Amino acid sequence: MSIPWFAPLNTPVVTWKNKRIWLIGASSGIGAALAKAFLAQGASVILSARRSDQLELVADGHPNALILPMDVQDELAWSEGQVKIEQRFGGVDLIMFCAANYKPERSWEMQSAEVAKTLRINLLGVYQGICTTLPGMLKQKSGGIAVIASVAGYVGLLNASVYGPSKAALINLAELLYTDLHNKNLDVYLINPGFVKTELTAKNTFMMPALQTPEQAAASIIKGMQRGLFEIHFPRRFTYVLKLLQIIPYRWRFALFERFLNQQG
Ligand SMILES: NC(=O)c1ccc[n+]([C@@H]2O[C@H](COP(=O)([O-])OP(=O)(O)OC[C@H]3O[C@@H](n4cnc5c(N)ncnc54)[C@H](OP(=O)(O)O)[C@@H]3O)[C@@H](O)[C@H]2O)c1
Repeated sequence: MSIPWFAPLNTPVVTWKNKRIWLIGASSGIGAALAKAFLAQGASVILSARRSDQLELVADGHPNALILPMDVQDELAWSEGQVKIEQRFGGVDLIMFCAANYKPERSWEMQSAEVAKTLRINLLGVYQGICTTLPGMLKQKSGGIAVIASVAGYVGLLNASVYGPSKAALINLAELLYTDLHNKNLDVYLINPGFVKTELTAKNTFMMPALQTPEQAAASIIKGMQRGLFEIHFPRRFTYVLKLLQIIPYRWRFALFERFLNQQG
């Protein structure tokens, strides 16, 4: 299968009915909103995160939901989880990585233990999930991998000292996964949200432009997948500004950041 010039980069999703979706980070925020939306549309959803009580609340006793509490840092939990999914659903059609750790901090505030934890959750957790599910997808010759990165991965943003680089790595990873897996009939989605009102952003003390609800974010993601997009970014009035920052000369970018800092006092 060659890269299409005009057609969508991924196969547009026509129906979610009976799709087996493993949602990593489904206990709150965007992951929880996605879980509810997918269940409402007839998918079978495996909900993973650490807080099992929260996962139960999100699933609300839905017969197509499987609660699979786990910490993405726990290697054994991945293989045990995969076995449980095989037993219940026979496999996975789509894995979506929504789990993340975030602490707003300037570079001089970083602490090595917390740095390692963020990288383990945001980045190594994704690798672990891919290593767990990819063999099955290759065997069944179908499936999809959706990575939620962030616009914080576009450029080096203030306060995202560890989170930002972890998301930049995910963008890079999604790009190479697409090239590797497209010809094997697998879909790869790179999802770059702007600001969404969740537990994660509740830590921010600065003004968040174009803030969206988790439900709006989930709707944009699902719509993007139905259109077969590779990169799903939203809201566009905000994400295009960040994309512009990527291409202007560093001198201008740094000057804009300095101005922002001065405004913050
Ligand atoms: N909110 C935004 O503005 C925004 C913007 C761009 C990108 N994103 C990305 O969108 C995704 C979802 O974030 P969100 O805003 O919805 O945040 P959130 O509400 O804090 O959700 C994060 C999820 O990750 C799970 N999680 C955290 N550590 C985990 C671990 N060690 N093992 C398993 N699960 C873990 C949390 O559940 P437990 O605590 O129960 O484990 C929770 O379900 C993240 O990748 C985030 O980086 C968010």
